[in-house]
Amino acid sequence: MGHVLVLGATSEIGGEVAARLANHNTVTLAARRTDALDGIAGRLIDGGAVAVHRLYFEADDLSSHRPFVEQAWSNGPVDTVIVAFGILGNQDACEVSGEAAAQTIHTDFTAQASIITEIVARMEADIASGALKPRDGVAGRIMAFSSIAGARVRRSNYVYGSAKAGLDGFLQGLQDRLHGSSIQLTIVRPGFVIGRMTEGMKPAPMSSRPEEVAEAAVTAFDGRKAQVWVPRKLALLAFATTFTPRWIWRKMPR
Ligand SMILES: NC(=O)c1ccc[n+]([C@@H]2O[C@H](COP(=O)([O-])OP(=O)(O)OC[C@H]3O[C@@H](n4cnc5c(N)ncnc54)[C@H](OP(=O)(O)O)[C@@H]3O)[C@@H](O)[C@H]2O)c1
Repeated sequence: MGHVLVLGATSEIGGEVAARLANHNTVTLAARRTDALDGIAGRLIDGGAVAVHRLYFEADDLSSHRPFVEQAWSNGPVDTVIVAFGILGNQDACEVSGEAAAQTIHTDFTAQASIITEIVARMEADIASGALKPRDGVAGRIMAFSSIAGARVRRSNYVYGSAKAGLDGFLQGLQDRLHGSSIQLTIVRPGFVIGRMTEGMKPAPMSSRPEEVAEAAVTAFDGRKAQVWVPRKLALLAFATTFTPRWIWRKMPR
């Protein structure tokens, strides 16, 4: 039996991932809208969760991150963390307001880097004390969400894209730091996902749905993969974009 912590538990993708990891585990759902967690909590119990806890979590408040981790761990050491929070931001607003641009980058990069650092530190302390014990070489594991938007940043959504690019770089560096340790970090890089975050937008080619993203993410997570593109062929597209001339690239739609 393990303990799964979901950060941004009202996320569509996060909920789908949690549903696939709940069986036989305790789950802590952390969200800023804790009153909106009844549906997902019920689904997790139906799916075999041993217990479901709810915790208030405001990612933007960096000073709350360390006490938040203490609180999450009070229900037992957490061995699995899903970092599912994020915002798309409003690109038009971000182009004319420094505050709006900084807000998007704060949530999608700074807050992610901060909470993931606190989680890794706590897992490392638990491994050192024996509170978390490796099973087949893995004692703690973290799933984090990057995006195709960060692979090569586009003019049409460069604020969100640059936050994801920064996050992706942070996660890759952290993976290298954790190499050889018993902490696994899996980076999930979806393309356009048809769901709440992209509501009202025309689906881009190679779109997927939250369930498809979750399925691929959990398969990679359980398979101890360092990264997964969803869909997988997006990896080829991301590679190809690096050869696209700038004068064409700047005209790319969202
Ligand atoms: N959807 C896509 O097209 C797509 C594509 C590539 C990558 N991704 C990434 O995948 C992850 C999950 O996305 P999704 O599609 O599941 O999005 P979603 O359904 O819109 O969920 C986003 C979640 O983030 C939470 N959140 C936002 N700001 C927060 C804050 N300051 N503190 C705490 N929680 C906060 C939201 O909480 P509230 O319910 O309170 O708003 C919501 O639960 C995100 O990192 C996203 O960037 C998504």
